[in-house]
Amino acid sequence: MRFLDLILKKKAGQELTTAEINYFIQAYSADAIPDYQVSALLMAICFQGMTDRETADLTLAMARSGDHLDLSAIPGIKVDKHSTGGVGDKTSLIIGPMVACLGVPVAKMSGRGLGHTGGTIDKLESIPGLTSSFALTDFIRQVKDVHLAIAGQTAHLAPADKKLYALRDVTGTVQSPALIAASILSKKIAAGADKVVFDVKCGSGAFMETLEDAQHLGRVMYAIGQEAGLVVHALISNMNQPLGHMVGNRLEVYEAVQTLQGQGPEDLHELCLALAVEMAFLADKGRREDLRAQLEDKLHNGQALAKFVEMVEAQGGDGSYLTQPDQLLPASYTADFLAPEAGYLQAMNCQLVGEASGLLGAGRARLEDGIDPTAGLIFDHKLGAKLAKGDRICRLQSSSVQDFGPALAQLETAITMGDQAPKLSPIILDHIY
Ligand code: URA
Repeated sequence: MRFLDLILKKKAGQELTTAEINYFIQAYSADAIPDYQVSALLMAICFQGMTDRETADLTLAMARSGDHLDLSAIPGIKVDKHSTGGVGDKTSLIIGPMVACLGVPVAKMSGRGLGHTGGTIDKLESIPGLTSSFALTDFIRQVKDVHLAIAGQTAHLAPADKKLYALRDVTGTVQSPALIAASILSKKIAAGADKVVFDVKCGSGAFMETLEDAQHLGRVMYAIGQEAGLVVHALISNMNQPLGHMVGNRLEVYEAVQTLQGQGPEDLHELCLALAVEMAFLADKGRREDLRAQLEDKLHNGQALAKFVEMVEAQGGDGSYLTQPDQLLPASYTADFLAPEAGYLQAMNCQLVGEASGLLGAGRARLEDGIDPTAGLIFDHKLGAKLAKGDRICRLQSSSVQDFGPALAQLETAITMGDQAPKLSPIILDHIY
């Protein structure tokens, strides 16, 4: 088989066979196809799309490219959760403990941030001492003992995705529903959970900007999950502004702690409840209405936060950062972004907001870059707020960057003020199950 023929076929809008897709993934994983040829195929896929059959084949081939975790030693239904990537999205830090409090074993595999979106592992590792690298036996033991472990992707889990994702990131080929579905689902299938809840982000900070595109992605993931024996429920959530008020690694841990105490911002609280209800429902823990009440209780009676502390300490982290969370806030340098005129906060280009946080050191431009755990943004206001000229919209902070000029300029471009109050959409836009 010649790889060039696959490129030409897809460029012409034709369907690749199962054998061709298997060849692509096996040969690329074995370093037998150069990145420039794979980039060309990825670009052709972005323009021509893939049928559901091709997407399913790609997913399964990628899932088979490495280890398949066997979690059968953990009793109960193992439920995982994954987001398609957003800004200020600290939901996994909150939902994991909430659901684990109901006795659901949560064996979670998470990623690092890339581009403008943040990653759960970077947030967790901003807690001093915490590690997210596990031997499989330790991971299983922790899920059995604590009901909750959050681990990073190992080199052996869906390695084809690891290579492809890095290549997509630098070749402008992330935004393809087929490639996103295959990337996420291949990891979830390989990670061994029985059921998964997907948070499909939709809006200016997400890879899928329109509701139609997000619905399509959710449906594709649902269908492929079924084919692979993985039960999938998807919620589509609004990503037209950062989730909550804080963007940046330690800042997001702080906001997660607040939310775990029942004092989180409304949008974050609501989304976490909806996702946690869905996970507990999939774990056969009862009716959605009853679960919602039980999960609210876990936030208010201290159990959810205690579970988070237990997990963090089990993974070597310093739990005092969660019991005295003010330690998570300081940074060496700060600046304020002020309303340039009076009016309503009408819209945000949330991708630019994520990039502004990255400019302060909260994200990496390349995989090998380090992270400033203290860097990020604290928003005083959400969309729809009525502001006077000079009111602070957000505070910027960093310990690694003293020149706030580029990030302030980015925020200026990202934020639209106007005379009319904007029409606001709810946090949950749709569900697919
Ligand atoms: N998250 C992933 O793991 N892969 C994608 O392609 C997009 C978001």
